[in-house]
Amino acid sequence: MQRLFLALWPDADTRRALARLARNLTPQPVPAHNLHLTLVFLGATPAAQAAAYRAALAGLQPPPLTLALDRIGCWRGPRVLWAGLSQPPAALLALVDELNSRLQPCGFVPEARPFAAHVTLARHHRDAPAQCELAEPIHWPAREVVLAESCSTADGVRYAPRLRWAVEG
Ligand code: 2AM
Repeated sequence: MQRLFLALWPDADTRRALARLARNLTPQPVPAHNLHLTLVFLGATPAAQAAAYRAALAGLQPPPLTLALDRIGCWRGPRVLWAGLSQPPAALLALVDELNSRLQPCGFVPEARPFAAHVTLARHHRDAPAQCELAEPIHWPAREVVLAESCSTADGVRYAPRLRWAVEG
């Protein structure tokens, strides 16, 4: 079984900006190499199912996206500190819909909750801030969708890209 998810994967500059933001907000940020924006969470996946997902996603051409991460907040239950968008672009929502539509014929059951675009900056976060706008939004020219595997290592969880789709144009 592989624990899989589809995500937008930050370029080096965006990753640095997100890591800096996270460090400024919390003493225990998500490690910089793990920062990403989940598009679809696939969960624990048997090998045959993973192969079906890969086939269903063949030829994917993600649209160019520029994300303005302009707010932070904290979900109280899971105490997830996140960076998010006050205005998710329509193309981002369309991409999530396309991924779900491609996967559904393989038996994938899409998340019932509405998609909440966010980058997790920390987990088990104390001192939850109220949602607030960032004085300096992070502009992320998203150019890469990845199929990533969540791997347990001696140093904690590490997210390893297994397949990549570059944005058109
Ligand atoms: P997150 O996006 O809030 O950080 C790998 O585990 C990624 O998939 C993480 O980004 C994580 O949450 C997300 N994820 C983990 N479990 C999930 C679940 N049950 N439903 C939706 N997303 C999940």
